[in-house]
Amino acid sequence: MCGIIGYTTRKNNSVEVALSGLKNLEYRGYDSSGIAFFDGEKMDIIKSKGKISNLDDKLSNFNTNSCCAIAHTRWATHGEPNETNAHPHQVGKVTLVHNGIIENYSVLKDELLKNGYTFKSETDTEVAAAYLDYCYSKTQDKLQALVDACKAFRGSYAFDVVYEDEPTTIYATRKDSPLVIGYSHDGNFAASDISAILNYTNKYSLIEEGEFVKVTKDIVTFYNKDLHEIEKKSETATWDAAQYQKNGYEHFMLKEIYEQPKAISDIFNRYYTNCSYKDLDFSKFDKIHIVACGSAMHASLVGKYLLQTYGKIPVMVEIASEYRYSEELITPSTLLIVVSQSGETADTLAALRLAKEKGAYVVGIVNAVGSTIAREVDKCIYTYAGPEIAVATTKGYTSQVAVFSTLALMAMEQKGLLDKNIEKLIKNDMLNIEEKINSVISNREKYLEIANQIYKHNDLFFIGRGIDSTVCMEGSLKLKEISYMHSESYSAGELKHGTISLIDKGTPVISIATDEKLFEKTVSNIKETKARGSFSIFVTTENHIDNCDEFADEVIILPKATDFTEPILTVIALQLVAYETAKLRGCDIDKPRNLAKSVTVE
Ligand code: AGP
Ligand code: GLU
Repeated sequence: MCGIIGYTTRKNNSVEVALSGLKNLEYRGYDSSGIAFFDGEKMDIIKSKGKISNLDDKLSNFNTNSCCAIAHTRWATHGEPNETNAHPHQVGKVTLVHNGIIENYSVLKDELLKNGYTFKSETDTEVAAAYLDYCYSKTQDKLQALVDACKAFRGSYAFDVVYEDEPTTIYATRKDSPLVIGYSHDGNFAASDISAILNYTNKYSLIEEGEFVKVTKDIVTFYNKDLHEIEKKSETATWDAAQYQKNGYEHFMLKEIYEQPKAISDIFNRYYTNCSYKDLDFSKFDKIHIVACGSAMHASLVGKYLLQTYGKIPVMVEIASEYRYSEELITPSTLLIVVSQSGETADTLAALRLAKEKGAYVVGIVNAVGSTIAREVDKCIYTYAGPEIAVATTKGYTSQVAVFSTLALMAMEQKGLLDKNIEKLIKNDMLNIEEKINSVISNREKYLEIANQIYKHNDLFFIGRGIDSTVCMEGSLKLKEISYMHSESYSAGELKHGTISLIDKGTPVISIATDEKLFEKTVSNIKETKARGSFSIFVTTENHIDNCDEFADEVIILPKATDFTEPILTVIALQLVAYETAKLRGCDIDKPRNLAKSVTVE
């Protein structure tokens, strides 16, 4: 959500570099963009609605030689996406870009109005700029002004600030929104994440909450909240710029789908050779809460199924934004597992902080190395799936499911529930996953055939039971996100209690039945929809296909596997159906409307 990049350099190419960095941040989601740069006399500000290419076009009419620039992609929270509301915002001596929300902006605005400030935009950010200018006018000290202003701000922020009387220095700070400092041969950066600067450097430092940073072309100085200088080590990023390229794939989403065989088999191989979380002792806790948002919450539901069914541990899964309403259930003997691909999701972060306050032990399943959630949990289990750029998660989700499979296996082992034959079966299943995923992916023609049958419809249903119903939720979300088709996921047995009234002649119903025990019951539910005219797409394993033409118009056949990997195989087929459908509907697959990759506001 929103991207920030500031660059101050010994050369004259800050605009070009900032713009190329901004393009690498596009994946985070945005609706407008803007840049401020020092033209030798003053800060010029150029903004544009829509894609960065619009900003690029506008900039071609200007002399953009500049040694210092701050740039921004905005994901509107306060005020519609238009040029006036786009960042940077300039008030008095202050020009800044902001990621996050200043929750008390209207109180501050009233105070500023009384002090003679006027406003052009509807944003909370312009109020922040004015408030910082107000603080600066009082202290005449740039860092102190930033400290004072941040004390007054409630909410979340990452700021890159340039003051009029020191136009080649960037001041930066953050709270609950990410910001990293990058060091290159020609100058220094303050950006939302490492992807923005990887074309220029892989050396970076993380800014901790409440730290303040002064960035000049030659030197970067870190300060604590009392403005005492602090030492900061630089780190070297292991992800490289090539991982942020499509590498010949038509979309990042497709590339990431194809990265799943390796990402998942790496997780299982690590589990059997060099597992960093085997010391997690489930017997220390009386209950497990799993908290996440969106797809990560869907992965958590698979986790719950596996941990409860096989590990015999009671698990509650809660949507992160609702977790605070279960506050009274969190105790020091609670194990909280938070799940997040980006490691920056504000709702998940808030849940984790609440649970820590209550004394719970918090484990994170996180992909983005060094992200806020990864740093704040008591124990971090990295999925190491590599950068995920497409807004709709694919390998992010399946790698979370894979980690849950290993946790359930661990729980079984610790409780003495793993007999030798089952252990062998699961191990064999996990260590052969790469081949099975490849065989699912290779069925592309089938997914396209199905997409052709459904893409003109406006409503669609996913149904399944047990572990399959959790996969339905993810399949349905994938389709909604990237194809904009209305889709609902329903437990197969629940449909008849109301929703079946929506099934009409030709309504596509995608049903999943991979679970042996539930197969017959699910088939009965499919037949109920078929009797009402549905177009039935049946997803099942190779051992279940006899006689399915009685109730299926289309069949997707998956390799047979255990519950520890079958959800991964199933969802990959659904990811590809969603992908082909979105393509036929002409949608912007990697950057669907209204969505952001990293949701850093609550
Ligand atoms: C997935 O396709 C979504 N874009 C979204 O639901 C996402 O999974 C959710 O916002 C959680 O993100 P996280 O894993 O980065 O915390
Ligand atoms: N709240 C700010 C706005 O609406 C910043 C949003 C963002 O993070 O992009 O302008």
